[in-house]
Amino acid sequence: MARREKWTADDIPDLTGRVVVVTGGNSGIGFGAVKAVARKGADTVIASRSPERGQAALDAVKAAFPNAKAELMLLDLTSLASIERFATEFADRYPRLDVLANNAGIMVIPYGKTEDGFERQVGTNHLGHFALTGRLLDVLVATPGARVVNVSSLAHKRAELDLDNLLYEKGGYSEWGAYGRSKLLNMLFTYELQRRFERAGVDAHSLAAHPGFSASNLTGHMADRWHLRIALPIFNRLIQGPDMGALPTLRAGTDPEATGGQYFGPGRLNETTGHPVQVEASAGAHDEADGKRLWELSEELTGVRFTALEADGSES
Ligand SMILES: NC(=O)c1ccc[n+]([C@@H]2O[C@H](COP(=O)([O-])OP(=O)(O)OC[C@H]3O[C@@H](n4cnc5c(N)ncnc54)[C@H](OP(=O)(O)O)[C@@H]3O)[C@@H](O)[C@H]2O)c1
Repeated sequence: MARREKWTADDIPDLTGRVVVVTGGNSGIGFGAVKAVARKGADTVIASRSPERGQAALDAVKAAFPNAKAELMLLDLTSLASIERFATEFADRYPRLDVLANNAGIMVIPYGKTEDGFERQVGTNHLGHFALTGRLLDVLVATPGARVVNVSSLAHKRAELDLDNLLYEKGGYSEWGAYGRSKLLNMLFTYELQRRFERAGVDAHSLAAHPGFSASNLTGHMADRWHLRIALPIFNRLIQGPDMGALPTLRAGTDPEATGGQYFGPGRLNETTGHPVQVEASAGAHDEADGKRLWELSEELTGVRFTALEADGSES
């Protein structure tokens, strides 16, 4: 595909009649993506866990683009019940889903568990999005050329994968380790989903993106440490803004030349900043055996199956 030097939000095609869901669309790069697609005419769903923060984001979009077709829908990725409710409500209201941006995330937090008993970083960043994608599968499959974009991180490259201790049930938890692992799981899920779309002959695409270093609220959870309280605001001022950080997600989701299995990130300074280009994931992210095993574990843990991709309705 063409690698244009400076792909920007102006390169997003007209999205009138297209439906885009952005998880964590109320903040950071998710909010950047929401503004960009709403401006291009998409029916835009801000999927947020907070009524207040979600409404504030929606108000800001409508103030900036009075004709925007945007709405807020509540989604808490730490709750399988909330994910199911969101998907059911979405399918009642929308006959199509052109872009599902699995963007929401938490980073570097003390050990804790989700409502369903999953370690929180893996539970939110991977299992929540796995379950959401599975619950939205029918509407994705019904939409020609639908795209799922998983937002990963450079951190996936240094991550340790232990599928026998996915949720740290056997110990070994570290705040950074679990974040990196969750982002590697995002990549394994991306490639496994693409393989399954292809095997099922479905006209849908699974892609990934990462924003390099982009100012956002992501580091907020870390700021209870005194040295980070001082360093993070300075760091956030030095790095690119969230609208720029949203561009890899937007390119993966909307560039007509992008296709399943591709991964986009910033093109400069070791992928930390710049306009989006196609980038390479770690070799481990492409491991097919790990992708398949992760898929099976994720189905088992969440109870969500992607039946529309199973040839005879039973194979995993
Ligand atoms: N910023 C970077 O430099 C960077 C680098 C690499 C990767 N990333 C990835 O980029 C993505 C977006 O992060 P960001 O930097 O834009 O951070 P952010 O400003 O903190 O945004 C994260 C979003 O995720 C939402 N979220 C967190 N837990 C959730 C849950 N349980 N259910 C639903 N939504 C939830 C947050 O909601 P609240 O507003 O309610 O907290 C927020 O809207 C993440 O996947 C992150 O791993 C970011």
